[in-house]
Amino acid sequence: MAILIGDTAPDFTLESTEGTIHFHDFIEGSWAVLFSHPKNFTPVCTTELGYTAKLKDEFAKRGVKVLGLSVDKLEDHAGWARDIEETQGSALNFPLLADTKGEVARQYDMIHPNADNTLTVRSLFVIGPDKKVKLKIEYPASTGRNFDEILRVIDSLQLTAKHQVATPVNWKQGEDVIIVPAVSNEAAKAKYPEGWKELKSYLRIVPQPQG
Ligand code: BEZ
Repeated sequence: MAILIGDTAPDFTLESTEGTIHFHDFIEGSWAVLFSHPKNFTPVCTTELGYTAKLKDEFAKRGVKVLGLSVDKLEDHAGWARDIEETQGSALNFPLLADTKGEVARQYDMIHPNADNTLTVRSLFVIGPDKKVKLKIEYPASTGRNFDEILRVIDSLQLTAKHQVATPVNWKQGEDVIIVPAVSNEAAKAKYPEGWKELKSYLRIVPQPQG
């Protein structure tokens, strides 16, 4: 069955470049990004992993742990890691799972048989500290993902979790946000004593809460 937003991310145990990963233990108390890449020693994947490694401090700032997955062997990950460092200028600094049997890839619907019967597509899940799926995206093998966009979505998800606000179209860090409809005007008054800009009763804008 497909894993949907709001579902608990299935647990698994797999070998990685940083030892055995028990996924739920790995998440414990943090946010997590689990992403698949189709194959080691391929061009787009090389750029994606190098860039993700460069974002280490950005993920850490947000309390996010990153975990990559492919159906390649653990031994191959090490050789490819050297290529990533050489060509992208950043060494792998997060664990890469070796899902050689494709069990986790199938569990997470990362293999789309009509695209490729054995390799994964570019799936990415953002998972909250409650172990629930907050975001899922799927890209084809030929299109590298935008990991700056993943950080932007994480900022939005964390604002929602902490402050009960939503983010409008093309929102960027520091811009105005929206009070979610589930917050009544009474509750909003307590949270925002300075008030809000009300374009419609359902469209209430406030500056981005800090902290
Ligand atoms: C790539 O990363 O460039 C790639 C991987 C698998 C299939 C096609 C492209």
